[in-house]
Amino acid sequence: MAQLFPSLLAADFLHLDQELCALEDAGVDGVHFDVMDGQFVPNISVGLPVLNAVRRGTNLPIDVHLMIEDPGVYVQHFIDYGADMISVHVEATPHIHSVIQKIKDGGAKAGVVINPGTPVSMIEPILAFVDYVLVMTVNPGFGGQVFIERCLDKVRTLAQFKATQQLDFDIEVDGGINADTVTQALDAGATMLVTGSYFFHQPDYRQATQQLKG
Ligand code: DX5
Ligand code: ZN
Repeated sequence: MAQLFPSLLAADFLHLDQELCALEDAGVDGVHFDVMDGQFVPNISVGLPVLNAVRRGTNLPIDVHLMIEDPGVYVQHFIDYGADMISVHVEATPHIHSVIQKIKDGGAKAGVVINPGTPVSMIEPILAFVDYVLVMTVNPGFGGQVFIERCLDKVRTLAQFKATQQLDFDIEVDGGINADTVTQALDAGATMLVTGSYFFHQPDYRQATQQLKG
């Protein structure tokens, strides 16, 4: 069964502690924490102090998605502030292997992310070193965008690569996941689902969790 990570970007920041309790009660597998720097993506979200608050508010695994330039400079800070898993965009650094290594040396799980315009071939050399691959199914920067179905071709390619090379990484999808698109993502081979605006607009998080996890 796939794991579900609701994206806190769509949560009620004024009542984050209540949101975190509700997510734990709902049985989600972890929370997805989106960090945007206004450089790598045209939006600014939250950073270390908010991560620290989330860490104090939950025991759920925290999956930090870094949409920032120079991620290698900051990964240890995010680990120190409570990240259990960190993913970095291959487009954001010429030193992806070294950044992945830094994350693992810091004791967190390491993921590599590809934008809709980036081919799988770009990350092939790193696949043996990562714990998960995040395939963006929207262009990063904003919640509430329309799912780009074509990106699922990359999920299929990765699932096949995983099988033929006997590798063990998870495949995460992020962007536009809702009750309709989730089926396609799962069929393509996704093992981790991020969901923001759809999930947090549901009146019953437990029901939404069961629905999306299938
Ligand atoms: C987009 C973020 C996503 C976003 C997903 O840049 O990486 O995690 O919160 O939100 P939805 O599910 O609304 O597309
Ligand atoms: Zn994200």
